[in-house]
Amino acid sequence: MQNTKKALITGISGQDGTYLSELLLEKGYQVYGIVKDSYSDESPLPRIERIRSELTIFYADITDLDSLTQIIGEVQPDEIYNLAAQSHVNLSFEKPFLTVQTAGIGALNMLEALRLKCPTAKFYQASSSEMFGNSVDPDGFQRESTTMDPASPYACSKLFAFHVGRNYRSAYNLFISNGILFNHESPLRDASFVTSKISREAVRIKKGLSDKLELGNVDARRDWGHAKDYVRAMWLILQHDQPDDFVCATGVTHSVRDVVEHVFGRLELDWKQVVKINPGLLRPQDKHTPKGDSTKLRQTIGWKPEYTFETMLDEMVEHWLLEAENT
Ligand code: GDD
Repeated sequence: MQNTKKALITGISGQDGTYLSELLLEKGYQVYGIVKDSYSDESPLPRIERIRSELTIFYADITDLDSLTQIIGEVQPDEIYNLAAQSHVNLSFEKPFLTVQTAGIGALNMLEALRLKCPTAKFYQASSSEMFGNSVDPDGFQRESTTMDPASPYACSKLFAFHVGRNYRSAYNLFISNGILFNHESPLRDASFVTSKISREAVRIKKGLSDKLELGNVDARRDWGHAKDYVRAMWLILQHDQPDDFVCATGVTHSVRDVVEHVFGRLELDWKQVVKINPGLLRPQDKHTPKGDSTKLRQTIGWKPEYTFETMLDEMVEHWLLEAENT
């Protein structure tokens, strides 16, 4: 029999929202999405354009509780995925209020709407490894039990959302789970994030459209996975028989320089000639070498990533090559 579950996704037009929609549509869900209020319902949503006709889109602001309660009351979803937020760590230093309003208060609004209008729905909160900051366990990993020490307004907002979700879970007995996701990338990643910036600019350099790539801290290390693997984790987390919190990560770190070397190597370019350090791109406070331990997710739910660091970057380079050919 066909599965007719209903899922509601905030931030549906982003990288994760797009891949998650595709996954849920494949599984037979009716997919509803909330997109930030815009002056026109006809505004293009480039990432989800290819599946837009299969989705029901609502325009509403995550900071507007009334709109959210109305939508949740009307849709009565079985599952809610709260992915909407101002998600740039660096930008959060420039726009702390916007970040707190969307990543922090926005999540609380969604939880209130859930509690008031659809308390039987399962709720996924997009929590972030940024909540750990530089706090690591003695073995160098960050896991569910690691002390959290947020190092940006973005991370502070996410930590608030994480805790208020846990509070609503126990206070009101709601099915609310946190996925604590480490960095996840793909061809759909916004080009302001570093892996996408590097692959896009390297392709432009290869094609003679640019002659330099400016970066900030190239020694920064991250635990990078592929967004497709991570949205599968989101779905699996809500299929578990009880609400809980799970770290999702590959367990392997690479530096920004490793990304540069792999991408430029694949394009047979010498990066040393074109990569420049721009001190203006350094962050007021940056993380050092965070890597995630996702043993709980792997053992409890059976998740494991299919992409490697290299296959993920190769796919991104292929994407930007195709884009360059089509423009
Ligand atoms: N964006 C950017 N641009 N980052 C740069 C640059 C640059 O030119 N040069 C060096 N970096 C370094 C940053 O300092 C950081 O250490 C690292 O590259 C990764 O930066 P981002 O790709 O912007 O991602 P992020 O780690 O700050 O945050 C992402 O992952 C989090 C999960 O851990 C975002 O997706 C967050 O929303 C998410 O929560």
